[in-house]
Amino acid sequence: MKNILVTGGAGFIGSNFVQLMLKKYDDIFVVVYDKLSYAGNLDNLLPVADNPRYQFYKGDICESDEVNAAMGKYQIDTIVNFAAETHVDRSLTDPGGFIQTDVYGTYILLEAAKKHGVERYHQISTDEVYGAVLEGRSVETDQLKPRSPYSAAKAGGDMMALAYATSFGVSVTITRGSNNIGPYQYPEKVVPLFIINAIDNQPLPLYGDGLQMRDYQHVFDHCEGIDMVLRHGQPGEIYNLGTGVETTNIEMARLILKLLNKPESLIQPITDRPGHDRRYALDCSKIKTLGWQSQHTFEQAIESTVKWYADNEWWWRKIKSGQHYREYYQRQYAGRER
Ligand code: NAD
Ligand code: TYD
Repeated sequence: MKNILVTGGAGFIGSNFVQLMLKKYDDIFVVVYDKLSYAGNLDNLLPVADNPRYQFYKGDICESDEVNAAMGKYQIDTIVNFAAETHVDRSLTDPGGFIQTDVYGTYILLEAAKKHGVERYHQISTDEVYGAVLEGRSVETDQLKPRSPYSAAKAGGDMMALAYATSFGVSVTITRGSNNIGPYQYPEKVVPLFIINAIDNQPLPLYGDGLQMRDYQHVFDHCEGIDMVLRHGQPGEIYNLGTGVETTNIEMARLILKLLNKPESLIQPITDRPGHDRRYALDCSKIKTLGWQSQHTFEQAIESTVKWYADNEWWWRKIKSGQHYREYYQRQYAGRER
């Protein structure tokens, strides 16, 4: 692993991964390949902008010519694919964009991986492909039962990656991560949205009864796990990646308000998301056998995330005040109070 193409590296998890890799290793060259969608942001990569072992390449993973040009130019030997449309709520109004990037785009990258004979193609997937898990925990061999257009598209990407491993011998690994929190998460996802609303004394829009459960893990732990699988995972294998501890959304909202010294009256129940998955829960024994372990409890992860947003208004204030975000917020939340 010398020259890594990190697709979607200007997004939340990808940019944290790039920062980690450049800090940890001095013998790798990282090319971020990203089309800079609404969620892609070069501010996320400012800490590495001057690093001579980092290069940004603007491109779409659905464009084969662009992908192959970047692969050839930088003699890429490893692809880590974070590029995706990622928000369940948006997938309910624009499923087509998700199929395009998360399935077709994955296929284009796999073709490039095959053509250039990469050492490894790593697909970033999600616990959501297992569907709602009301009891017990998902293991990697479970049947996929995605229930939203987002999770269905991600499951399609996983299946295509495994098919390229079987049919063409591409060295594929997959990680299925739980919900990430931490620096640089676009504030339409629940945790940063609740934090910046609380800072501004605005309501925290809580879907349904707020008793849905998610395994919120620190993005740093997720990125370490991906690195572990890249170095020690077996080709053709899938690894779940999370803390194994679930929290309800209402508990998460209350903790954010407590940390910011704000009243619980800011919690505003609103109509539920259609088809809302009640619970995701991962069994992470397999990745632990590689030596990986989560380093942050839920409380530590939330606390450091709240601190980061409180300390970095420069990062989110321009997003929140921008027209794209304001229009999205209005479309998504107006008139849903219960
Ligand atoms: P994000 O929305 O913050 O970032 C996605 C990035 O992909 C952006 O920089 C965007 O510009 C880029 N992108 C989108 N379409 C593209 C295209 N066609 N070509 C090139 N670049 C494109 O997402 P994230 O939260 O960082 O998620 C990254 C990956 O991790 C995704 O594959 C997601 O499914 C997966 N994942 C996310 C979570 C989570 O909690 N955020 C959990 C598990 C798995
Ligand atoms: P989200 O961050 O969209 O991640 P995902 O649905 O992919 O897990 O949402 C996390 C949880 O928070 C989910 O149960 C939906 C809920 N939620 C709210 O209650 N209010 C909100 O405004 C949002 C965006 C999400």
